[in-house]
Amino acid sequence: MEFKDGHCSAGRKWRWFWPRAACLFVFLCFFQHGTEAQIRYSIPEELKKGSLVGNVAQDLGLDLKRLRSGRARIVTGENVQYAELKADKGLLVVHERIDREQLCGDVTPCSFTFEILLENPMELHPVTIEVLDVNDNAPTFKNSHLKFEISESAALGSRFVLESAHDADVGANGLQSYILTPSDNFVLKEHVSPGGGKYAEMVLQKGLDREELPRLSLKLVAVDGGNPQRSGTVNININILDINDNAPAFNRTIYKAKVVENAAKGTHVITVNATDADSGSNGKVTYSFSKSNAGIADLFHIDEETGCISVAKQIDYEKEKTIEFMVEAKDQGGLADSAKVEIEVIDLNDNVPVINVMSFTSPVSEDSPAGTTIGIINVKDLDSGENGHVKCEIEGRVPFSIKSNVRNYFALMTDADLDRESVPEYNITVVASDAGSPPLSSKRTFNLKISDVNDNAPAFPVNFYSATIAENNSPGASVLRVTAKDADENQNAHVSYMLEESEIGGTPVSEFVSVNAESGAISAVRSYDYEQIKELIFMVKTQDGGSPPLSSNASVRILIQDQNDNAPQVLYPVQTGGSVLAEMVPRSADVGYLVTKVVAVDVDSGQNAWLSYKVHKATDRALFEVGLHNGEIRTVRQVTDKDAVKQRLTVLVEDNGQPSRSATVIVNVAVADSFPEVLSEFTDFSMHDKEYNDKLTFYLVLALAVVSFLFITCLLLIISVKVYRWRQSRILYHSNLPVIPYYPPRYSDTLGTGTLQHVYNYEVCRTTDSRKSDMKNMQAMSQSLVSVDGADADTPHVTKQLSGNCSQMSTLVSQIFYHSFTIMV
Ligand SMILES: *[C@@H]1O[C@H](CO)[C@@H](O)[C@H](O)[C@H]1NC(C)=O
Ligand SMILES: *[C@@H]1O[C@H](CO)[C@@H](O)[C@H](O)[C@H]1NC(C)=O
Repeated sequence: MEFKDGHCSAGRKWRWFWPRAACLFVFLCFFQHGTEAQIRYSIPEELKKGSLVGNVAQDLGLDLKRLRSGRARIVTGENVQYAELKADKGLLVVHERIDREQLCGDVTPCSFTFEILLENPMELHPVTIEVLDVNDNAPTFKNSHLKFEISESAALGSRFVLESAHDADVGANGLQSYILTPSDNFVLKEHVSPGGGKYAEMVLQKGLDREELPRLSLKLVAVDGGNPQRSGTVNININILDINDNAPAFNRTIYKAKVVENAAKGTHVITVNATDADSGSNGKVTYSFSKSNAGIADLFHIDEETGCISVAKQIDYEKEKTIEFMVEAKDQGGLADSAKVEIEVIDLNDNVPVINVMSFTSPVSEDSPAGTTIGIINVKDLDSGENGHVKCEIEGRVPFSIKSNVRNYFALMTDADLDRESVPEYNITVVASDAGSPPLSSKRTFNLKISDVNDNAPAFPVNFYSATIAENNSPGASVLRVTAKDADENQNAHVSYMLEESEIGGTPVSEFVSVNAESGAISAVRSYDYEQIKELIFMVKTQDGGSPPLSSNASVRILIQDQNDNAPQVLYPVQTGGSVLAEMVPRSADVGYLVTKVVAVDVDSGQNAWLSYKVHKATDRALFEVGLHNGEIRTVRQVTDKDAVKQRLTVLVEDNGQPSRSATVIVNVAVADSFPEVLSEFTDFSMHDKEYNDKLTFYLVLALAVVSFLFITCLLLIISVKVYRWRQSRILYHSNLPVIPYYPPRYSDTLGTGTLQHVYNYEVCRTTDSRKSDMKNMQAMSQSLVSVDGADADTPHVTKQLSGNCSQMSTLVSQIFYHSFTIMV
């Protein structure tokens, strides 16, 4: 029955055995009436080959002979024959390893059936062998790893289905349960799927914190119920997904750094660092300057990614000594932190000292004493410390010094006496340098002018000027020019000239010369006469325009040069209007007899007064000659009786001037032995002068009377003086008083170079007839001064006389006598 049912059902269940089963079904139906008992065995799977399954002979109630004779064998429609019949022993053994899972899969119970066929008679005995499951399969997971990504913000109770395991074994040997380890965060919940399989899911029972535990590694173990129990494991990796639940945080609240001023762009200053526990973009921190500190972004640059702060622009210590600002770190989720950065700027000596002039006085007077302040300067150096510590110096060697009384203020002052005349201006270069390393310095040049003080007198280049001017100059003629120099300046150097008051021969010098006040030109005021004055010596003075003025002087000597402006004057023989004066020459005169001497003077000097005598005209040229230089007229031959009594010579007296001047004198010579002879000869040509001579005779007699009177008066005067002196000397002798001799005042030629001395050194001939009678009058004349007035050329004019010596008077008297004698002749 069971078989039939099974048979029918077998057709349904054994789908993949169907063709064979259909064949078997045919067999079964054919041999239905011969089928007896059905044998059923149960064996575990995986028995070794040859393992006993059952004693078929015994179980079928057949003896071994029958089995043998019946050639008992197994018939099966299957390819694989699991069982083998050992017909000789009547045993059924395992022929092939039986894998239940392979044979039946999940179908339980698992069995296979075959028949044992016997022939003669044919018998067919079905045998069913049930294969019992052995726990030979562990539960297995398809993957060895499971991956989950779960947000850390996942709500408690969230469920995550896990992959289910599969166990090929069935029943108790099949999958029984799952185990999840560790189970801190998740608990496992098992479910039975609609297909009957078991699956599990994890349920979040404790909040996740990625920051604490970013990754979870769990193990899911599937266990079966076999003995020994088998299990399969799968690793579950859970990545906890971040949510931005952490703000970035700086690792310090204050960052301190130092930076040198003027550091190059890009110089690293400090790196700020903030960390964000979040991951991914939530943990990606970017850095920036806080918006609150405007301007910092210009000075520094912050790297968004690294937080590296570097110099972006020149930092000037002088503007900011410390720079403070806030930095911000921000993650992508918008959470931020901030920290303070304090950067200390280190000073560099980058500022040159700057010189400012507070005051400066120029020009400064040259008489300013040493130590006079001429300027105050202020020096600024923006650097600090030594870099800003300034000192000032003056460059070069100038008589100035610089001192500081107040920090950074310097007084510029004179250090020595100044002299504008030697240095009129100074360029004072002040060098201000700081104490940095290397030091920086700056310069400033002050141009100081020295103003003049009238400290220099004008000076003539020489103390003594000498010039010459020819006499007879025109008044106003320029003689020379004096020039004085004054080392001072402007008005102090404005020199003017003047004459120093003095007298020349009793006349104020200003009547002789004048000085142009401006030009210093000295000119003659009048026409000079050399015969009157030969030189002018005076002082010129120069004075500057300072206040008070300074002056100096120089002496000037003007030599007046002689000109040949005076013709020679014949003193002897005296030329009268009509009277005939004759020299007597005795007929017995020898050759060389001195007839007379022409005496002439020239008031000029030198060559101009060097006279020469020549015979101009003569009655008999052969008889007389004139000494060229001495003017002596001598006979050149013996006088004979044939010579005329009346001889007339014209003598030319010529000076040596250029051009020369001359005078002529007519000398009458009477060649006779007696006076009457002469008279008779001369009366004829003197008759027409008679009337004139009468008058003249009267004047001469009158003059003779006057002169005689004066002579007598003089004589009396001398006698009375002599008497008086004699008496005086007696009184002195008696009184024992010292005798003081009295000398009459002498008058001498002050110039001493005049020609008058020579003029009066001549020998005046008193008589005409004897050369022995020549009277020498020299001594007498040298004791008196007779100046000859050049304007009156005809006769010597007595200007000054009778200074107590009457021998002079006697000379005069004798001259007058002589004159009257010649006239009378
Ligand atoms: C001072 O400097 C000025 C300008 O440079 C120059 O003309 C002048 O000659 C200088 N003076 C002296 C005394 O060096
Ligand atoms: C001229 O100068 C000298 C020296 O310079 C001085 O001794 C003298 O007194 C001056 N003479 C006059 C007249 O000023």
